[in-house]
Parts: sequence; C-alpha cells; structure tokens
Amino acid sequence: MKRILYIQASPRGARSASERVAQSYIDALRAKGAIDLDVLDVWTEDLPAFDGAALEAKYAGLAGTPLNAAQKAAWAAIDALGARFRAADEIVMSVPMWNFGVPYRLKHLIDLVTQKDVTFTFDANGFGGMLRRQRAVIVCARGLEYVDGTPISEENLDYQKAYLMSWLSFLGVGEIKAITVEKGLLGAEARETAIAEAAALARDLAA
Ligand SMILES: Cc1cc2nc3c(=O)[nH]c(=O)nc-3n(C[C@H](O)[C@H](O)[C@H](O)COP(=O)(O)O)c2cc1C
Repeated sequence: MKRILYIQASPRGARSASERVAQSYIDALRAKGAIDLDVLDVWTEDLPAFDGAALEAKYAGLAGTPLNAAQKAAWAAIDALGARFRAADEIVMSVPMWNFGVPYRLKHLIDLVTQKDVTFTFDANGFGGMLRRQRAVIVCARGLEYVDGTPISEENLDYQKAYLMSWLSFLGVGEIKAITVEKGLLGAEARETAIAEAAALARDLAA
C-alpha cells in the first residue's frame, strides 16, 4: 500500500486554502486505491526544541564523538521524526506563504529532520539525499497573486515554493510537483475560484 506522509503547515484547518487543495489530491489518490496516510500537523505535533542536548548531539555526531545519555535521548526523538520521512513513498505538503517564506513551525520541523544520517548522508563523496525513493507534491498557498515581470513576482519574493523545492531536492527527492493557490486575500470570489482551479489541477495530478 502506498504510504503518504502528509505535512500540514497551516493552522487554519478546514478554512485553509492549501489544506483544501491538498485534501483534493489525497481524496483523488484514495479513490484510485487504498493509501496509508501519516498526517504530520506541525501545529499539533510535539516538535522537540532544537537546542541544548539536541544541538550538542548534532555537533557530537558531526565530530564523531560519542553521545551522552541526554544527547542520545534527544537524537532518538529527531530520528523518530526522520523515520516518518524515510518510510514514506510520497510526501504531500500543504503550506501557506507567511512573510514570503514558510510558517515558523514548518521551519522548526525542517531544522529538526534535516540532519546527517537522518535524511541525508555526508562523506568523502559529498552530500547524498536519503529520500531518493520518494516523490513529493507541495501545495503552496498565498494571499496575493505573483506575476512574472512585476514587483510582486516569484522571482522577487518567493522564499516558499523555491525553498521547499531546494530542500526536498537536497534530501534526494527527484520528482517534485508544486501547485500554487493564490489570491487568498483578494476577496472571497477570487479565493474560491483559485481554490477550485488548484483542486482540479491536484485531482489531475493524482490521476
Ligand atoms: C502571518 C501571515 C503572513 C502572511 N504573509 C503573506 C505573504 O508574505 N505573501 C502573501 O502573498 N500572503 C501572505 N499571507 C496570506 C496567506 O498566504 C494566505 O491567506 C494563504 O491562503 C494562507 O494559506 P492557508 O489558507 O492554507 O492557511 C500571510 C498570512 C499570514 C497569516
């Protein structure tokens, strides 16, 4: 059974544009056959702080020095999160744009799991992503509309989709599809039309 890790990064639940579009994708996948869905909601997941013993564990690991008991415990929590990425066949993400980037709770998750021997390797040959088996679909919601050649363009202001694609590529994910759903702050009609269009794209992608 196809195993999907669904990372939800909007705290808006059913009112979230990114979540509604991602849900259309997941519903369409499910219509094709049973899926094993692991939902990682960054707002309700108990993400451990990345300081103290966890940070010391990272540097000890990089230096090749043994971890003490507190560092081992902190690292086990990080590796347990990483295991959910490694176990997935596909990663689906619903992500609002916040201040041109991603919400801080998603950045927290990314900082936790982007670790040597958790999601990537590093040796004499350089870096290697450990998620080479996975594909990814990312739904990026925005309040405005980003138009090439204008001041409000992805080229000028996108630290959301471009960042997520670079991050997933770094982790080895080869096939990454992005769906943007814009105009979330441009009135109810524009917003609903954008969601319907993006949801149709999402269903096509699942098919
Ligand atoms: C804290 C915060 C910051 C935001 N920053 C931006 C932004 O920089 N650019 C933008 O186009 N929209 C911005 N928005 C609007 C959201 O991206 C928009 O409402 C989107 O639909 C949110 O996705 P969601 O509905 O899935 O939560 C911001 C919203 C919030 C709450």
